[in-house]
Amino acid sequence: MTENAAAGPRIEQLLADLTTKEKVGQLIQYFYFSIPAGAEGVDPFMARQPQAVEAALAEGSVGSLLFVTDPEQTNRLQKQAIEGSVHGIPLLFGFDVIHGLRTIFPVPIALAASWDADTIERAQAVAAKEARAVGIHWAFAPMVDIARDPRWGRIIEGAGEDPLLASVVAAAQVRGFQGSELGAPDHIVAGPKHFAGYGAALGGRDYDEVDLSDQEFWNTYLPPFKAAIDAGAGNIMSAYMDLNGVPASGNHWLLTEVLRDELGFEGFVVTDANAAKDLQTHHFAADAADAAVRALNAGVDMEMGVFQPAFETLVAAVDDGRVSAARLDEAVRRVLVVKEKLGLFEQPYVDVQESVRVLADTGHRDESQRAAERSAVLLRNEGVLLPLSAESLTKVAVLGPLAGSKRDTIGPWVFDFDLDETVTVVDGIRERLAGTASVTYEQGVAEPKRTFPSMFEAFGDSSPSAPADFDADAAFTRAVEAAADADVAVIVLGEQQDMIGENASRSDLSLPGDQQKLLEAAVATGTPIVLLLMNGRPLDVRWAAQNVPAILDIWYPGTRGGSAVAALLFGDAAPAGKLPFTWPRSVGQVPIHHAATRSHAPDAQGKRYWDEESTPLFPFGHGLTYTSFEYSEVRVDRDGSGVNDTVTVSVNVTNAGDRDGVEVAQLYLHQRFGTSSRPLRQLKAFRRVEVAAGATQTVTFEVTPEERRYWSAAPHDWVLDATVFDVWVGGSADADAHAEFTVAVDA
Ligand code: NOJ
Repeated sequence: MTENAAAGPRIEQLLADLTTKEKVGQLIQYFYFSIPAGAEGVDPFMARQPQAVEAALAEGSVGSLLFVTDPEQTNRLQKQAIEGSVHGIPLLFGFDVIHGLRTIFPVPIALAASWDADTIERAQAVAAKEARAVGIHWAFAPMVDIARDPRWGRIIEGAGEDPLLASVVAAAQVRGFQGSELGAPDHIVAGPKHFAGYGAALGGRDYDEVDLSDQEFWNTYLPPFKAAIDAGAGNIMSAYMDLNGVPASGNHWLLTEVLRDELGFEGFVVTDANAAKDLQTHHFAADAADAAVRALNAGVDMEMGVFQPAFETLVAAVDDGRVSAARLDEAVRRVLVVKEKLGLFEQPYVDVQESVRVLADTGHRDESQRAAERSAVLLRNEGVLLPLSAESLTKVAVLGPLAGSKRDTIGPWVFDFDLDETVTVVDGIRERLAGTASVTYEQGVAEPKRTFPSMFEAFGDSSPSAPADFDADAAFTRAVEAAADADVAVIVLGEQQDMIGENASRSDLSLPGDQQKLLEAAVATGTPIVLLLMNGRPLDVRWAAQNVPAILDIWYPGTRGGSAVAALLFGDAAPAGKLPFTWPRSVGQVPIHHAATRSHAPDAQGKRYWDEESTPLFPFGHGLTYTSFEYSEVRVDRDGSGVNDTVTVSVNVTNAGDRDGVEVAQLYLHQRFGTSSRPLRQLKAFRRVEVAAGATQTVTFEVTPEERRYWSAAPHDWVLDATVFDVWVGGSADADAHAEFTVAVDA
């Protein structure tokens, strides 16, 4: 047993002393809702939930709670748990700390677009510090699901399409949340989710079934989980959907043979909310009791339950032998080990005064701004419209409903934010140009009306919608006039934050409502237009990519989003982010990603559709900056030429502009022949480098045998072929600086 799983004498003693009911209690996590007073449309069960949970606490049969973020409340509930249980076992508080707690960072897909592990680790370390200060011990994050279908709203929570980038991001997030080890001060447990394959939902419909080939499973969807586990993640969350016909949360092969035996995971597994009970919904389990037994026996240790968790039935299952005492103890031990490692037996409470200080730390807001500056992706910059010269502007128009919306600026999956200090794009530009130029703001169009309620409606968390008396025609006319009258117009378009995220799939990637119309009218004025996209998925911007000179993807940039955007627009900072996904032209091309294999009639590649190109609008890895880079002289060096040797690839990166800059140099590999067909290009290494204006830097990458190994459906096993490789290095998946190398069978 390694460190993470080892239980000390206290835990073994508890296992000897606890009743079956108390043990089962440790395996249940209840939602504890703090619904705002006066909230409308609250499900009556949800409204009663706090009393039900407190009754269970009084009996000592609760292991964990989620959704409590107030430090007074965590202390109060903790006291009830400790005093309610004969053995004084503290609660573990979990929460969706996805991209910040009080200080909101750019959404996860944006952080991934920084391709910067340091920035990501720092962001999650701040989130962990704030969470720990209020009594939260565990984040239901990172989401490490690969997403290749942008119709799926949860693409925003992950790192995009690529297993290597997603693995680097996953490990950085785990390090950020957990620090140097489980139990490090000011840190919390990381819970990578949703194990596994959840991002491949059919049709991009959240929660729906996933049918994944073995090669996709091992080569694409599993690596980020492996990276997160290797980085020491203390928890894993199981997924909602069927994986190849067996529900992920009742899947022994997945949760035990793959997770434990193959990946060596030693922490505890929690289900997604209600996912054990859901085994009935899947027509898999006969009833709640059967669901609980099958989830536990498959490898789930704790059930996250909203409504009467199935695990409440487990006492009877242990009594009649459907669950063995050993399996029960194993699960309880895993939960208690985490509580012990976090030091909760010694220090279960938080210092409320200290939490106030931590949450108010302006250094955290600075970190968030820095992350937003590093996350933005410059998609297009014709005629070098950006950066704008603040000195030469007198009138600036800012348009679009998202430009002035604080709630949208911070994005989905946040609950404890402070809107008062959130800086919108309009605020940021006004502040930057104060005293030098006039800034007019016009919304122009309304945010679209929801077609079904947001799942977070009960928390008062929907995006603002237009007031009843919103005069759409007048607003539109005012916006176009403002654009016509300005030196430059900055237009912020995209999706309001509750159009994306969990249970927010879209069948269409167009700009919502009348946004496209507004964009076209603004461009028709002849005023130079900068389009800022606020989004977490690629949108259909084919027209903009032809007709709008500058397009900057700012994602949902967080608490200081507007300040970061202003710094980028006026050149105080330069964008250096790169796309973590392939940007399709239209939804009909979905799914599309850079690591496709070659097939019959490759010359017709661009012509597979009768009505559309086969190439994307922007390639994976694409992102411009305020200078330009050239790649030359790709060299291959190594000591040996065997399959087990590491190959070193170097390239010259020249900053061809007159401004210092940052570039993410990317290495793509292609295997010419072998046991399987291999992707035409696959990201295998990248490095973020700073190059001074006019300078050339040599950038070196290692291509290890591990990076060349893959799972093949021919032998149904891992293989490492002796073959010939093409290697390209450049600033996107369209890189063209090329070399090749051969690896031979080891002597
Ligand atoms: C359901 C989501 O799928 C999961 O990601 C989240 O952590 C839980 N709800 C708790 O909010």
